[in-house]
Parts: sequence; structure tokens; C-alpha cells
Amino acid sequence: MQSLLSYVESNKDRYLSELKGLLAIPSVSTNPENSEDIRRCAGWMADHMKTIGLQNVEIFPTPGHPIVYGDWLKAPGKPTVLLYGHYDVQPPEPLDLWTSPPFEATIRDGNLFARGASDDKGQVFIHLKSLEAYLRNGGDLPINIKLLIEGEEEIGSDNLEAFVREKKELLKSDLVLISDSSMFAKGVPSICYGLRGLAYMQIDLVGPNKDLHSGSFGGTVHNPIQALSEIIAQLHDRNGKVTIPGFYTGVLPLTKKERNAYKKLPWSDRKYAKELGVEKLYGEKGFTTLERVWARPTLECNGIWGGFTGEGAKTVLPSKASAKISMRLVPNQSSAKAAKLFEKHVRKIAPKSVKVTIRNLHGGEPAITPIDGPGVQAAVSALEKGFGKKPLYQREGGSIPIVVQFKELLGIDTVLLGFGLPDENAHAPDEFINLDNFFGGIRTSLHFFNELPHFIKAHGKKR
Ligand code: BES
Ligand code: ZN
Repeated sequence: MQSLLSYVESNKDRYLSELKGLLAIPSVSTNPENSEDIRRCAGWMADHMKTIGLQNVEIFPTPGHPIVYGDWLKAPGKPTVLLYGHYDVQPPEPLDLWTSPPFEATIRDGNLFARGASDDKGQVFIHLKSLEAYLRNGGDLPINIKLLIEGEEEIGSDNLEAFVREKKELLKSDLVLISDSSMFAKGVPSICYGLRGLAYMQIDLVGPNKDLHSGSFGGTVHNPIQALSEIIAQLHDRNGKVTIPGFYTGVLPLTKKERNAYKKLPWSDRKYAKELGVEKLYGEKGFTTLERVWARPTLECNGIWGGFTGEGAKTVLPSKASAKISMRLVPNQSSAKAAKLFEKHVRKIAPKSVKVTIRNLHGGEPAITPIDGPGVQAAVSALEKGFGKKPLYQREGGSIPIVVQFKELLGIDTVLLGFGLPDENAHAPDEFINLDNFFGGIRTSLHFFNELPHFIKAHGKKR
């Protein structure tokens, strides 16, 4: 282990320049204009896997963006880890809010800034460098590993399910390892055991059949922007609860144990509000901030548009208005059901004065992962060695749609080992990965692979 750690130590600069190359590719999965970049990024991943000594590297096309696979299976009798991550990124817009360009990775104050630095290229790269250290120093891994790096996570992983269904044998493993989440705070490593699901909707309203002079026509027809605002305003009540009938049906309640554990975490609402620049926090009454984001379902408007938004003033009564609205879901809710309830309710409350189209853009299911297995024990021990501190347990508000399918289709549990930070601006301008976390992540990954066989063996004996 010592020689691996010093190998990492002496290759830091090379790692960063390689990572900058990966981050230079604008692999924005939601934008059709970037499909060539997506393909280039898949190629970069595959080439890099080969370079570090992985085998059977293959790019699998899908009806959407390609999936990159590679493995190293020369440790007979040892456990097999399925390492999942994604090479696609969220759109970088608004570009003018970036301090340095999103696809020119730049280091400032110990952080590496670029779109995908943390979510998720940087975190995938952490494990690639850990594997490289093993394969270049003696040439063997203490485990077998299969890598599955997809290009559609940020748009709901729609084509990955079919791939997993079809390639059960290829993907057969003992546990899934994912680094695509955050630590609780800087210097506070954590193991994540819960993710929310998602149902992402779009509402399009059409009022009059063309844009109208707001003087000549104002007061005669329902402005679709107003109608849309009225609909959106009705989706929450005074207590911050979502008003869609049936929305909370079946929601898995927080256990007493969880509520007590969350209360003990180092958390301050005041500090949180201050960091976000708000006077007052908002949310469902009766739950703490951490409970609301980790274990309660919510509804957010992601974007709203219509009418005139340019410089200056234009007096117009627009024909159209639209909004993108997402619901975060918690265990025992289903994305398809939430989408149905949403559609039914919005149709019901929409006024007759406008035409309504509702679309379900994509979704993902919520997940809870077990924390008593050998994978998590190995992760606890590895984090302690990598960051010098025992991790705490937390859930997350974000979603990784494939986690539930790994369990359902392959029967394997996932270990969520996040190296991001809650304030790293994922999905926003100035996304970054903290370099201490990046290198701490590589050390943790080295220890994790090293210790996993031992924990799995001990766990098997106990049972
Ligand atoms: N890395 C995130 C998931 C995440 C976010 C985990 C925050 C923990 C905390 C992932 O890349 C992501 O953003 N997923 C999407 C999935 C969606 C499009 C189905 C998300 O959560 O919005
Ligand atoms: Zn993301």
C-alpha cells in the first residue's frame, strides 16, 4: 500500500493534466448539438481505460448515447466490483456566470473548476487513477473489477436499464460502487444510504392563437403566463406541502432512529441560509432541513418562459407559456405514478381559457441502500484511512436512477462513496472539485479495493 500511495503522490500533476483533458470535452447529454462531443468523450474514456491496463474495453452503442465498459478479472476467488459512473454532464449555461470557461478546467484556491469536475467525470477519474496505481505497480488488483460508465445519467439513464437487462452475465458482480454524490462537509467524510427519485414534467399552455397587442387585447383573453403562474402557485399549500392528491400516499416515514441521528449531525440552518443568501428557509412544515431534502418528496419549478424577455419593454399579450417542473421522490413513491398524479391534477386545475399539454420528460426511482453489508464496512475503513476521520451516515436529495435497477435486475447492493462537496456548484456555474477531496478520494479508493476481500470474507463467516 505504501508504494501505491507514494506512486499517487508523485504523479499528482500528471493526473490533473489528464483530468483537464477529459473535462475539456463538452459532453452535454441533453443537447443534441453535443452528440459528437458525447461520442468523443466515450472514446476518451475507452482509450483511457485501455491505457491504464483494463481489458475487454468496449463502447456499446444505445438508441441514445454510448455506454463504455471495461474490466479486469484476473483475481479468481476474489470479489467483483461493478464500478458505475457517468461521463455526461449538465449544460453549462448561463455561461456569463462562470469565472473561467466551463470546459477549460482551471485551478483556484485548491479547487479545480469545470463542468463535470465533480459530477461526475472527476469522481470517475479518482477510481481510474486508483486502478492505474495497482496495475502499474506490480500489475495486479486485489479484486476483480467491471467498469460501466454511461452517457445519459443526467437525462434519466433511459437506455441503461435495457442494457443491464440484456447484459446480466457481463455485469454480474458482488457489489456496485458509485462515486457520484457528496461528503457531508469539507473534512467530514460520509457514506450515503439514500437517494431521491425524480419525475420531470413539462407544461405547455397556449392561449390565443398568436401574440397580441396587450393594449388592444389585454382584458379580453387569459394571458397564458398568468394562467401558468396560477397553476404553479396552487401546487403548494401554506405549509409548503405539495397539493397534488395522492402525492404523499405510501411515503416511507423517517424512523425515530433516523430523526435522532440527523439531529446529532453538525448542522446549522442559520449558516446554511447565510451561505445561500436567503433571509429565511422555506419548506414543508414539521420537518427539519435535512429531513426535507433527504427524506421528503418535493416539487420544484426548474424553469419558466413565455412572452417578451429581451432588453427594454414590449407590450405583448403572448400566445404561449411553458414551465419545467420536477418532483423529487422518496422510497415507496414511483416516478410513473407521480407523473400520472401530476398530469391529472394540473389538467383539473387548469382554466378552460387555455389549452394544456403535459409531457413526462424522464424519471428515476428513489433508493435506500443497506448499511450493514461488507461493502459499506470496507468503505468506512477506507474513508477513515483516506481522510483520517470516521465517516458519518447520510442520505442525499439527488437521484441516480440506475441504483434501484442494479438491485432489481442484478440483485446487487450499491455502496455510495461520494467525494464531492455540498457547495461544489453541481449543475450550476463554477462547478468544482476540491483537490484535497480528489486526492483523498484516490487514497480511499486504493484502501477500499485492498480491504474489500477481507470484509467480504469476514462477513461470509459470520453468516
Ligand atoms: N450526481 C448527481 C446525483 C446526486 C446529486 C447525488 C446530489 C447526490 C446529491 C447526478 O449526476 C444527478 O444529477 N442526477 C440527476 C438525475 C436525474 C436527471 C434523473 C439529478 O439528481 O437531477
Ligand atoms: Zn448531476
